[in-house]
Amino acid sequence: MFVTFEGIEGSGKSTAMRLLAETLRERGFDPVLTCEPGGSGLGRSLRSILLDARTRGISGRAELYLFLADRAQHVAEVINPALEAGQIVLCDRYCDSTYVYQGCGRGLAAEQLRSVNDMATGGLVPDLTLLLDLPVTQGLERAGRRNREAGTTVSEGRFDAESLDFHERVRRGYLELAAAEPERFAVIDAGQAPEDVLLQCLSAVETALQRRGRGLE
Ligand code: TYD
Repeated sequence: MFVTFEGIEGSGKSTAMRLLAETLRERGFDPVLTCEPGGSGLGRSLRSILLDARTRGISGRAELYLFLADRAQHVAEVINPALEAGQIVLCDRYCDSTYVYQGCGRGLAAEQLRSVNDMATGGLVPDLTLLLDLPVTQGLERAGRRNREAGTTVSEGRFDAESLDFHERVRRGYLELAAAEPERFAVIDAGQAPEDVLLQCLSAVETALQRRGRGLE
């Protein structure tokens, strides 16, 4: 089963993913944890270009194709092999990030994004997308604190440095995607304590597994 985590900067995706993985392991599953950009060998090189605040003058379309190159390699090298081996794949960001950051954020046309994304992924769509939703000011504050503590303000800060309006469009875009595909998305209040976020993630995973004729016990 393919589960993706989405949300604005600082929405707590990585923590939620780590806690969910621990719980799944306790229940006998062997999940694969991965992320975009940077889940493959090629992707790690692309990530440093894409997220570095010193990278200047990339056009919206060039940025799009770098994210898609990252995704195409990631699907081929990591995600598809794990799914074929019957594993649960937990992925921090995937196609919905492209739809909202390059679409709602940068203003690229939604229909074209869907078509080039499908070409990159071969049509692989997540079984479940956990959208961690949070007001933009709270998310950016958290992300800023984390980057300062990790010393990555510049090397990973290109998107964090975008305007408040950009991030508001991204958040709204996510909520619209979730409303359009309620079967695939679970919208989770990321302002709650991590344990409560985990409980909601678990319940969404349980429902998705049951839909596929499996359970968590
Ligand atoms: P990420 O490491 O996920 O940061 P955070 O955990 O702070 O959210 O950063 C990836 C950045 O790349 C994030 O700002 C969103 C952006 N992005 C896109 O613009 N398009 C995409 O297709 C993907 C996967 C990410």
